[in-house]
Amino acid sequence: MEYRELGSSGLLVSPICLGTMTFGAPVGEAAAIKLVHGAMERGVNFIDTANVYEGYDRYLGSAGGVAEEIVGKALRGRRDQIVLATKVCAPVGPGPQDRGLSASHILRELDRSLKRLQTDYLDLYVIHWPDKHTPLETTMTALDQVVRSGKVRYIGASNHNAAQLCEMLWIAERTGGPRVVSSQIPFSLLRREFEPDLEFCSRHSIGVTPYQPLQGGLLTGKYKRAGQPPSNSRLAEKPEWMWELGSALFDRLEAFEAIAASAQVPAARFALAWTLRQTAICSLVVGVKNMTQIEDAIAATEVAVSQQQLADLDVVAPPPWRQPNPIRS
Ligand SMILES: NC(=O)c1ccc[n+]([C@@H]2O[C@H](COP(=O)([O-])OP(=O)(O)OC[C@H]3O[C@@H](n4cnc5c(N)ncnc54)[C@H](OP(=O)(O)O)[C@@H]3O)[C@@H](O)[C@H]2O)c1
Repeated sequence: MEYRELGSSGLLVSPICLGTMTFGAPVGEAAAIKLVHGAMERGVNFIDTANVYEGYDRYLGSAGGVAEEIVGKALRGRRDQIVLATKVCAPVGPGPQDRGLSASHILRELDRSLKRLQTDYLDLYVIHWPDKHTPLETTMTALDQVVRSGKVRYIGASNHNAAQLCEMLWIAERTGGPRVVSSQIPFSLLRREFEPDLEFCSRHSIGVTPYQPLQGGLLTGKYKRAGQPPSNSRLAEKPEWMWELGSALFDRLEAFEAIAASAQVPAARFALAWTLRQTAICSLVVGVKNMTQIEDAIAATEVAVSQQQLADLDVVAPPPWRQPNPIRS
């Protein structure tokens, strides 16, 4: 496993990060603990969770905590071998203070996360979403406090665009507070809208840790135009978490699968390998249900994607519009 730098943190992480959004259901506690240990034995040293994760049982405002508890149990006696990230912001109850990025919510939720994770520090504390009710300065002051307290080593952002990351860097520079070291964005061959921001992340040493690089499983080749989805797949079990499969999407998936087949690489590995090739990408936050899937993800780190294949994939799933560069040669 070739480890990559997590932005400016100095931490080296595996290019595959174990996502835990499905821990609890459909991946029960015993299976999830085995997955964590199996992934670690194969070189994965980076785990992503969130205070709200509780698998398929999650609904907006439910208390969460289930995935963190499982990760805490899995890491007993192994904590130091892992770069552990969790997140805060999403609602964990019905009250007005049960969500967001106020100092109040952050400080309360951090202590709850640490308790569930059975640790006294997080390697990476990630703000899950921007919070329109809290000025960024207020959030950054709270994050400065948690870093100074020793409970958090580094801070990261999720679902923030380049302008928002830039504001975080400005505040850090102005106040001497912590710099954002990572950006977790939705990014896959089917979701490229954050792509223009990758260059910014590269220039400012922000490691990008894309989530849903398989688009929830759509890029694995398991869904076919004719017939029902496989019975133990996410589309069969939790369709609310998946995109609707129309004929335009199938056209795209079939064209992608044809390119993967001509490269003689299984579709899931090829999709992950494409994502790993992009600018500023540090580690892919993948969801897995069994050891075969984690092995597939790890195998993707060995797959080369040629210039011609990159160009062919751009035709199938075109990159987004980019602002023209005003300096023309
Ligand atoms: N920051 C955020 O806002 C945010 C949002 C969402 C997710 N995340 C993070 O990103 C992680 C990944 O998200 P995700 O699980 O939705 O997306 P994903 O990694 O794109 O999809 C994972 C799913 O695809 C299927 N799969 C994986 N490998 C496969 C393989 N080799 N062959 C066939 N099927 C395979 C499995 O589902 P089935 O076997 O059930 O079909 C698996 O649960 C989460 O666990 C979480 O940590 C973060």
